[in-house]
Amino acid sequence: MALKTINPTSTKAWKKLEAHFKDIKDAKIKDWFTKNPNRASQFTVKWEDFYVDYSKNRISDKTIELLLELADEVDLRDATTKYFEGDIINTTEGREVLHTALRNPETAKVIVDGKNIMPEIYQVKNKIKNFSNQIINGDLKSYTEQRFTDVVNIGIGGSDLGPAMVVDSLAFYSNHLKTHFISNVDGDHVNEVIKNLNPETTLFVIVSKTFTTQETLSNANTIREWFLKNAPQKAVAKHFVAVSTNIEKVKAFGIDETNIFPMWNWVGGRFSLWSAVGLSISLSIGFENFDKLLSGAHKMDEHFKREPFAKNIPVITALLSIWYNNFFKAESEAIIPYSQYLNQFVTYLQQGVMESNGKSIDRNGDKVNCQTGTIIWGEPGTNSQHAFFQLIHQGTKLIPAEFIGFAKPLYNNNEHQDKLMSNFFAQTEALMNGKPKNEVINELKTQGYSEEEIIKLTPFKVFQGNKPTTTILINKLTPESLGKLIAMYEHKIFVQGIIWNIFSYDQFGVELGKQLANNILEEISTKTSFNNHDKSTLNLLKHYKDLTK
Ligand code: F6P
Repeated sequence: MALKTINPTSTKAWKKLEAHFKDIKDAKIKDWFTKNPNRASQFTVKWEDFYVDYSKNRISDKTIELLLELADEVDLRDATTKYFEGDIINTTEGREVLHTALRNPETAKVIVDGKNIMPEIYQVKNKIKNFSNQIINGDLKSYTEQRFTDVVNIGIGGSDLGPAMVVDSLAFYSNHLKTHFISNVDGDHVNEVIKNLNPETTLFVIVSKTFTTQETLSNANTIREWFLKNAPQKAVAKHFVAVSTNIEKVKAFGIDETNIFPMWNWVGGRFSLWSAVGLSISLSIGFENFDKLLSGAHKMDEHFKREPFAKNIPVITALLSIWYNNFFKAESEAIIPYSQYLNQFVTYLQQGVMESNGKSIDRNGDKVNCQTGTIIWGEPGTNSQHAFFQLIHQGTKLIPAEFIGFAKPLYNNNEHQDKLMSNFFAQTEALMNGKPKNEVINELKTQGYSEEEIIKLTPFKVFQGNKPTTTILINKLTPESLGKLIAMYEHKIFVQGIIWNIFSYDQFGVELGKQLANNILEEISTKTSFNNHDKSTLNLLKHYKDLTK
């Protein structure tokens, strides 16, 4: 069944939220703490190894009550059932959205076109398992009978970002295989990576759901040519594998049928790391760890499916984000992981969040009348503190932030860990409390400044505070906890799309640029004259032609 199409702004809850916003927009979070000694525990969700404290937000009990009412009024529960049960909720592409099935236990039943898809999922999982085990333990050897040393993932968008982020995030759990990622059609990217590789001991994983993506096919062709400079044609079968739904196109590329890892149309690219798209993850950290990543995600699926909304992490974080986006009119949100391992986490999430919810037409086909699609950005702390935190603390923009931290370090370096985590806690405290004028003056006095200097300096040293943050504290970075965290954001994206009444699972917005690039490429490569361009583009193209003559 199709998703319901309820315009959120027409709900009673929305109207109440608008009125409520006017009442509390200037209220101070720290005053709420004074008034309610239970605030911290009241606005905390403890689940498994996750401790999510959202008490440092610009919300009162009433705010949460109304946001939950909004979720009920748009019938989030009904939408969630449809999501997990495989209804065609990617309506514009006529597809189910079933990445959650990929992390189900084998005994589960998920029906697509009258058939349970779980046996097929497990067939592919077993193929991933056997292949990764054989490559890792050296049973499958290179064409020169050597052990593989390197793996290169060739893909872009969802066929790159997910595996690249997980491989990086779980580097602590990696084996001897070095994993590289080539995504950009920029020839310097591919050359920079291959220049240090030995083709005799490198395995290439071509990942493309459609197997038509220009970037991926160009890189794959370049690499195959480079590989065949020394290797015989038959070596391709040992060194190239592919992950795709488009089996015919993969075969036409010359890849052996046994080296094809299938995926399905009901897995969206940006949610596909749980499928064979995650092959390079399994190669890098071993299948067992890959499976733990999946089981962590499954636990989050169950939490999201079953927990009442008031204690449901993806629902609460999604609602908070709607509160800031639609009522406070916040322009963006920051996500700050306090772990260097999660260096690529936000880049990865940008595709999930912004490709999914960057839509302006609602599920009725009408223009939306509220802001959708949050802009997210961020870098690991503490590096980000020394880069853009100034703006969050003292700039003019309201930037709600999610802080993600892990209590235990992986290398047991507790001295560093305590320093890292003291920053983690201090920043959210500073953002909320700020530093009032009287404190600044006292501090300057004790530092021995003159009266005149104090008057001059004080305004610059005041921190307004009242900057909202949510803290996600996890015991330890493991494949399982990372799986939970990624799934948490996937469901947050889903909840927001449902509330905004948009379709989150298509991405037509990426098409136009691709089409125009193809036209321009044709004009550049056939050296014909440039047609039908605006004056600016025309001048740029002519200048490019002159420079590259
Ligand atoms: O960016 C558009 C997009 O279609 C993404 O959704 C997808 O992850 C990416 O291109 C790559 O597509 P494919 O896996 O088909 O090569």
